[in-house]
Amino acid sequence: MEYIKLYNGVQMPTLGYGVFLVSPDECERCVSDALSVGYRLIDTAQAYQNEEGVGNAWRKSGIKREDLFLVTKVWISNAGEEKAAKSIDESLRKLQTEYIDLLLIHQAYGDVFGTWRAMEKAYRAGKVRAIGVSNFQAGRFFDFAHYVDVKPMVNQLECNTLSQQTGIEPIHGEFGTKMMAWYPLGGQDTDSIVKSELLASIGAKYNKTAAQVALRWLTQRGIVAIPKSSHKERMAQNIGIFDFSLSDDDMAQIAKINQHDAGTTPFGNPQFVKNLIKNYG
Ligand SMILES: NC(=O)c1ccc[n+]([C@@H]2O[C@H](COP(=O)([O-])OP(=O)(O)OC[C@H]3O[C@@H](n4cnc5c(N)ncnc54)[C@H](OP(=O)(O)O)[C@@H]3O)[C@@H](O)[C@H]2O)c1
Repeated sequence: MEYIKLYNGVQMPTLGYGVFLVSPDECERCVSDALSVGYRLIDTAQAYQNEEGVGNAWRKSGIKREDLFLVTKVWISNAGEEKAAKSIDESLRKLQTEYIDLLLIHQAYGDVFGTWRAMEKAYRAGKVRAIGVSNFQAGRFFDFAHYVDVKPMVNQLECNTLSQQTGIEPIHGEFGTKMMAWYPLGGQDTDSIVKSELLASIGAKYNKTAAQVALRWLTQRGIVAIPKSSHKERMAQNIGIFDFSLSDDDMAQIAKINQHDAGTTPFGNPQFVKNLIKNYG
């Protein structure tokens, strides 16, 4: 495993296992499998309703708490200082832990400044080792990071070989913020990545799959990737990316296939925002 260092000194694995759309029943089995093949970072969220499964799997694994890196996110319905503070305690209870390694604001809507104040308090109280955001697009990220006291240590965004998020990198750089990639394999549209001819041909040189090339390309950019799979053999495949390196030429070829730099989710579309607020605000 390789690690990146957040600006407060916390070391974070560059590859983790994500549990979006893993049902509460299935979550414990999936996370147990992921831990058994070597994952030590688990990415969950209040909205995924499977934090308890993550906690159960860890408790049964025998892995020391300091060897695990737990990430969770405050959902829109828990926005605001008071509600967010309660929700952090609830996440700690469900995860069965005394601290969360990285806590993120899940979406850039609602009273995000109130939520952040609760997160800063939790951070200073030792309930959380690092705090950050998710889905904050470049302008929104700048505004937020400029005005808050503790700057976000991480921004978790849709990022993969087709949505490379190069535009936001200099803004992150201004605040020392590291990027974390969701949909590292394309999420709902994995074929265009895991069956990419370019990625497969690059992988053939190293005896690696297109999926492994896509993940290695992220970690080699210093971006933390959190692929999800319900299949143990794919979990093992996805973590098998630390015994080879992509060349500068490989990296440059992949840079050319960027299609929609800032991702495919319409965060700026009022109807998308209305629906989120109507359903969860
Ligand atoms: N912050 C946010 O708003 C946000 C949004 C979305 C996701 N996330 C986080 O990011 C994580 C990853 O995103 P994601 O799960 O949506 O998408 P993803 O990891 O890009 O893709 C998951 C899909 O890829 C398939 N897959 C996995 N490994 C494969 C391989 N080696 N070869 C072929 N197919 C493979 C999986 O199928 P099988 O399961 O059948 O193997 C699943 O259908 C989530 O689990 C979640 O933790 C965060």
